[in-house]
Order: sequence, then structure tokens, then C-alpha cells
Amino acid sequence: MLAFFFIIGLSFLLMAGTLINMLGDYLFDVRIQGDRAGLEKWAVQAADHLNRKNASGIDEIVRQAGAELGGRVLLLDKDGKVQYDSFQEAMGRRLHYPEVVSVLASGQMTDYGVHSLASGEIVDRLNLLGFTPRDEWVSYSTASVVQSSHVIGVILLVSSVREMMQSLLTLQNNMIFLFAGVALAAVIAGMVFSRVLTQPISDMTRVIKSMSTGDLGVRVQVRGSGEIRQLALAFNSMSEQLDSLNQTRNQFVSNASHELKTPLATMKIMIESLIYQPDMDNDLRTEFLNDVNQEINRLSNIVSDLLTLVHADSRTTRLNRERMSLAEVIKDTQHRLNPIAEQNNQEITLNLADSGDMYADKAKLQQVVYNLVENAVKYTPPGGWIKVSLQRVGRDAVLTVSDSGAGIPRESLPHVFERFYRVDKARGRGTGGTGLGLSIVQQYVNLHGGSVRVDSPEGQGAVFTVELPLNKG
Ligand SMILES: Nc1ncnc2c1ncn2[C@@H]1O[C@H](COP(=O)(O)OP(=O)(O)OP(=O)(O)O)[C@@H](O)[C@H]1O
Ligand SMILES: [Mg+2]
Repeated sequence: MLAFFFIIGLSFLLMAGTLINMLGDYLFDVRIQGDRAGLEKWAVQAADHLNRKNASGIDEIVRQAGAELGGRVLLLDKDGKVQYDSFQEAMGRRLHYPEVVSVLASGQMTDYGVHSLASGEIVDRLNLLGFTPRDEWVSYSTASVVQSSHVIGVILLVSSVREMMQSLLTLQNNMIFLFAGVALAAVIAGMVFSRVLTQPISDMTRVIKSMSTGDLGVRVQVRGSGEIRQLALAFNSMSEQLDSLNQTRNQFVSNASHELKTPLATMKIMIESLIYQPDMDNDLRTEFLNDVNQEINRLSNIVSDLLTLVHADSRTTRLNRERMSLAEVIKDTQHRLNPIAEQNNQEITLNLADSGDMYADKAKLQQVVYNLVENAVKYTPPGGWIKVSLQRVGRDAVLTVSDSGAGIPRESLPHVFERFYRVDKARGRGTGGTGLGLSIVQQYVNLHGGSVRVDSPEGQGAVFTVELPLNKG
């Protein structure tokens, strides 16, 4: 701000200075021209008188000239010596003013100069800042007195320019006042403006500080227009995302620890029984150990699912793409799950209308198909059917997995892809899973640039549809 006012002030001073100097020069030019014209007329008269070899009355002419031109008139001979002075003071003195010297030397009409009577200082051009109002300032003009084309003398007019100086100085003072006023107004306006401009930014800084101390619920007030408004909007949307991310993370951690705690608690009870009942029946002991083993399997499955999700979460996940056939993957899955289905007296039928040849991450798509078909088998009562179909629609491979189970209630449909979400939370651990399978499906499908959705027409089982772009590599 200081630098700003320094620059403004400097340019204002320069401008004002130049303006006043130009005005001063102009006023002086006019003045000198007037003086000179008058002086020339008197120079001719003086020459006439001197011609007549009768010098009497010449002092009268000099006095008249002084009265008419409003100043002091001196008549000098060709050596620069004062012959007559309308003030009757300087008779016989030699004057060395440049104006006089120039006329005598070259017969030229004179330049003008402004002299300070106090210091004798001469200024060619007006320099406003150099003037002191105390000095008496005069202008000098000269005209040559010519006799048969010889310069025989100089007539010199000294006239006061005090009034002109005074008005120039007043103008200068007025300009300084004006500048001070304008500068003050600019300072106030600048302060108001910068407050208006920086207020939203300092608001934002405050909010960022409170966010960095952990309060993610705070938002900035959106106001104004243009960039600041955009910034506030962007900032709020960013903090909303952060907030929701944070909530998701907390939820995830609490769900995960809950899931891990249950098998651990079961295992603890069983192992304690083994410890405190050393004479336990051998068969019972084996059964307990088997249960513990099962819980360990379950724990390690949960942990590996969690790891899978965390890996698929990170943006750096790379797909190991290779040429593969989705139809082959489906057949493979059917093969793996058939034993379980047969146990349940279920039938898995395939309808593969396309080979689903693509350039994709085979292991991940295997997991996708497996999780979907496994769910269908798991959530379909004995005696039901599971249908898997593969078609080609435009540039997509479309996989559907449908079953004859109970389906998914309408209100649960939007949640089934959430982590740890299970429709029937009370379901025994024998049939119910962790609720991670479909999250993994969604992550992997998204990684491939595809989409997955679920539908469950009332009383007709569940239908999962996966669309994968047929990337041929
Ligand atoms: N084919 C289906 N029919 C009925 N309900 C289903 C079906 N597939 C999924 N669900 C419901 O959606 C929930 C989430 O499925 P998801 O596969 O994510 O978890 P899960 O099968 O319970 O556990 P996990 O797969 O991690 O072992 C299931 O708990 C179940 O309630
Ligand atoms: Mg599952």
C-alpha cells in the first residue's frame, strides 16, 4: 500500500509540477512579449532623441517609458553603462546582465530571465519548487537602441513579477492540498476495498485452521461473486468430501474391528474351556479344536478381504491385463462352486452367448464372478436354481447372475455394495458372510471401467448385472 501511494504521489507531483511550469512559462512568454513590444517602441524614440544630439528630455522619455510599462526602465550605452534610470539610482553603473550582454554583443532581441533581487539568482525557466515567496522576483527585457544600423545602446525594463509568482504559488499550494485530499480519500477507499476483498480469505483461513485441528464439520460462508465465491464453493465441497471420507473411514474401522472381535471372543471361550478342563472328553476336545480352526479360517478370510479392498482402494492400483475369455472364467467358477450347489440340490446353468474375449485382469474378474455366484448359491434355498449369462451389447460384455432365492428387500438394494452391509445381520455365521464380497465386486468392476447394478423384482430372487467394456488390448 505504501509503495502504491509512493508511486501515485510521485506521479501526481510530476504531473502537477509539469503543469504549473508549463503554465508559468506561458504566462512569462505573454508577459515578455508584451514588455518587449512596448520596449521596442520606446527604443525607437530614444534613438530618435539621441540622434538629435540633444540629449535633454531623454530622462523624461525614460521616465515615461517606466510609467507606461509599469517597471523600471534603464538606458545603457554600448559599453553597458547606465545613462538614465527611471528610478534615478543606478546612473553610471555598468550592468552585466546576460540580457544586456547579448543585445550588445549581437544586437539580438533578448531572452528573458527571471531574477531574484535578493540573491541575484537568475532562472531561465521556472522551477516551481525552487521558488521562495519571500524573494522579490523580477523579469528583465531588453531592446537595442539602433542608430544608422549600429547598436548604440540598450534599453532595459525591469518589472516585478511578484503577482504572477504569487498566483503560481497559490496554484501550487492548491494542488498540494488537492493531492493530500485525494490521497486521503484513496487510502480510505483502499482500506475499505481491501477489507472487503480479504475478509472472505481470512474467514477461510480461520476455517482451515479449525479443520486442521480436527473439526471437519465447519464450512465457510459463501458470499460475493466471481473467484472468491468459486473458491468458497470449491472449498466447501472439498471439506464435505473430507468429512464424508472421514466418516466412512471411522465406520469402516469400527465395522472391521467388530467383525474381528466376534471370532476372537468365540475362540477365547473355547480355548479357555480347553485350558480349564484338562480332563475333557477327547471327542469334545477335537470338536473344540475344529471350531477354533474354523474361526481362524474365518478371521483370515476377513483379513484377506480387507486387504483386497484396501489395495483396490489406493489409486495406484494397476490392473494386470492379459488376453482372457470371460466365458472361460464363468465355466471355471461353475466348476468350483458346483460341489456346494449339488449339496444344496441347486442347479447352476450357464447361457454364454458370447465368448467375452477381452484384455483384462483375469484374477480380479475371477473374483468378481466367484463372489456373485457364491452369493447366489449362498442366499438361495435348497432346490433352487442359479443362472449365469453372458452377452455382448454394443462394446460391452454383459454378465448377469440371477437366482431363485428370496431376493433383496427394496430398501436394502442401495446398500448391498457398501462394506460390511448385510441384509440379515442376525444370520448365523454358517450362511452369512462379512458383507465385503459385493464391495470387492464393485471396486474391481469400476477399476475395469465397468459398472455393476442389482435388481430384485418382488418374489423373484436377485439379479446382478455387470457391464464390462470389451477392451481388446
Ligand atoms: N443373490 C443374493 N440374494 C439375496 N441376497 C443377497 C444376494 N447377494 C447378496 N445378498 C445380500 O447382500 C449382502 C451383501 O453381500 P456381500 O457378498 O457383500 O456380503 P456377504 O455375502 O454377506 O459376505 P462375504 O461375501 O463378504 O462373505 C449379503 O449379506 C446378502 O444379505
Ligand atoms: Mg458374498
